[in-house]
Amino acid sequence: MNRQEFLQSTAMAGAAVLLSSLESWATTTPDKKLRVAVIGCGSVSNRYIPQLLSSKMIEVVSLCDIKPERAVAQNKQYNVNAKTYANIDEMLKGVPFDMMVTLTDMQIHGALNKKALMAGKHVWSEKPMANTYAEGKALLDLAKSKKLRLWGAPAVVNSPQFAFMSKQIQEGKLGRIASAHGQYGHTGPTWSSFFYEKDGGSMPDLGVYNMATLTGLLGPARSVMAMTSIVNPERTIDGKGKIKVVAEDNAHILLQHDKGVISHVMCGFCYFDPHGHEAGNQTLHSIQIYGDYGNMRLIGYDWETNGVMLDTDWEKPPVLVSTDKGGYVWQEGANVVGESILTGIEPKINVEHALHVLEIIEAARKSQATGQRIKLKSKFPFPVIK
Ligand SMILES: NC(=O)c1ccc[n+]([C@@H]2O[C@H](COP(=O)([O-])OP(=O)(O)OC[C@H]3O[C@@H](n4cnc5c(N)ncnc54)[C@H](O)[C@@H]3O)[C@@H](O)[C@H]2O)c1
Repeated sequence: MNRQEFLQSTAMAGAAVLLSSLESWATTTPDKKLRVAVIGCGSVSNRYIPQLLSSKMIEVVSLCDIKPERAVAQNKQYNVNAKTYANIDEMLKGVPFDMMVTLTDMQIHGALNKKALMAGKHVWSEKPMANTYAEGKALLDLAKSKKLRLWGAPAVVNSPQFAFMSKQIQEGKLGRIASAHGQYGHTGPTWSSFFYEKDGGSMPDLGVYNMATLTGLLGPARSVMAMTSIVNPERTIDGKGKIKVVAEDNAHILLQHDKGVISHVMCGFCYFDPHGHEAGNQTLHSIQIYGDYGNMRLIGYDWETNGVMLDTDWEKPPVLVSTDKGGYVWQEGANVVGESILTGIEPKINVEHALHVLEIIEAARKSQATGQRIKLKSKFPFPVIK
């Protein structure tokens, strides 16, 4: 092979690799951006839409909401220049796109994600990606069978503080890990009733972050015991008036990990926590991990991190370390996975991890209903930080 033939063949090989990593996207998108459709133009879309628009690799081509005026309003508010739709079927028949970002009421995520996958779209879903583990697993099987990608929020494993804590544990800086605790609560959303309806609750909305963090740091949970309750049986929802609360608004979940490690998550919609929610305070922590040589506390929330208080010395006081956020923001998940479709670089966020957390939530509900410890079957690639 002469030099010219060599250059030609390596160029062709390179082009082939690039093409395969771009999957079908490359052949359908002339401007080489990932075309994204957002479904659900409510509260959280105010974080997602600007974040998506900030990516050079992503183009938001469609916005959809069953309250179509919301899609129109967001299109204008953020100058998106997208097509707007009143339902998913119209959107799937409309302007072509590559990935759907699901930001609707929690209970409908699974059904919408399935429709998108059936139509050949990649999916990033806000949590939970489905109402049950079985429904979520079926979505993943469907995605795999169609060579599509599916991911579920949250993106907590992306923060530098998560990586720092994982490294401390893996390097044995805390000694043998024994126990961990996570908590997240506030007084509950007022803008939509789905948070309080069947398959809603503080676990899929709030506890999900701590569950992803603790399993991401300590490994998959093998079994779950939980107590959940409804503290506030009636809520007033904006524009709707009083509603009956059906889903738990207070939950304590015990997780059994390998090697004797036990962790605990506490979440609820009845927690007075105005300063914690701002997460700007450098003293309040939401996650704590204890070993026999040290402990560490995550300052702020695991979704909005401020640093880690590390305590590994009998004499010296704990030190605040890992305070650089490195650009991490909690609403970055769809950007990170969307860009990964183009670059071929596998993100830390993993769909099996999201499914594992979904199984924990379901097991916690079952444990509360039966008074039993519930065994889990799902796993995910661990450690998350290699
Ligand atoms: N609000 C936040 O700060 C926040 C933060 C992180 C994650 N989340 C998650 O984001 C999701 C949405 O929460 P939210 O607070 O934005 O709720 P929201 O009620 O403000 O918005 C949901 C939107 O989805 C629309 N919708 C419902 N069913 C639909 C359907 N079938 N097709 C199209 N649109 C539909 C509703 O009309 C509404 O505009 C939830 O899973 C929530 O847990 C919210």
